[in-house]
Amino acid sequence: MAEDLDIVRTVAELRQRVKYWRDQGLSVAFVPTMGALHEGHLTLVRVGLELADRVVASVFVNPTQFGANEDLSKYPRQEAKDAELLAGAGCALMFAPGVEEMYPAGFATTVTVAGVSEGLCGTVRPGHFAGVATVVTKLLLQCLPDIALFGEKDWQQLAVIRRLACDLDIPARIVGVPTVREPDGVAMSSRNAYLSPEDRARAPALYAALQAVAAGLREGRGAAELCHRASADLLAAGFHAVDYVEVRDAATLAPVEHLAAPARILAAARLGGARLIDNIGVEKG
Ligand code: PAJ
Repeated sequence: MAEDLDIVRTVAELRQRVKYWRDQGLSVAFVPTMGALHEGHLTLVRVGLELADRVVASVFVNPTQFGANEDLSKYPRQEAKDAELLAGAGCALMFAPGVEEMYPAGFATTVTVAGVSEGLCGTVRPGHFAGVATVVTKLLLQCLPDIALFGEKDWQQLAVIRRLACDLDIPARIVGVPTVREPDGVAMSSRNAYLSPEDRARAPALYAALQAVAAGLREGRGAAELCHRASADLLAAGFHAVDYVEVRDAATLAPVEHLAAPARILAAARLGGARLIDNIGVEKG
């Protein structure tokens, strides 16, 4: 049921709204996004509503997390539609700041998270996680929610955010939400819009490759051989490059060869004009 959604563009207005709710004893959940919203984002809002009285979502295409050759200028922007979708999902407030509100003249601080930011997407996208960590730290401190929700779809990002919230004593509970998938298994992503119909038909091979690695690990096979095979399968399925397929410890992201503690299989691969990422969990059992 669509409710009233307010839109604010300044940190001062955001703080005023959240304080107003807080003063009434209401709890607040926060869902940071870059817009071009889909069912994955809206699921974060719905889970937020189960855990708190009010949900705030931010829509901000953060320039500092895009590399020089990445898709910042063509990243999909559809604010009016996003506002409608957020209202329909029960979100009470949309925070949509301009770049100058988030990064005013003289801005000079960067948050970097060692360890979990390294490897995987951190290798392929240098500077990306510093951009994410900086903007998420700012957003969490601007909103000061009781809880903040992030998708497991971006597993390494979630690990970076858990680490910074803990290390910087940010008083918000970080909640991870399972990946929302299309019926054919493809993880929902704003970047799926870049796929041609032919490439969209090839995309399920990514999730299939992760599942094949999981099955092999459960049989006791080694990660290196399984990931090598999965990369070859992705290329054979029409992906034109594989950035990585790796098995990592689910919590620390340390490399894993044989299954012991809960692990995560993570992959990134290029299909047409899009770079798709996905991951699944696997446990011994
Ligand atoms: P964005 O890609 O818009 O994603 C916003 C949130 O939605 C992230 O927490 C992401 O993990 C989650 N999400 C995306 N697709 C999902 C899916 N299929 N299922 C479940 N959750 C999904 O991630 C970012 O923006 C930015 O890096 C941000 C954290 C907002 C910082 O700029």
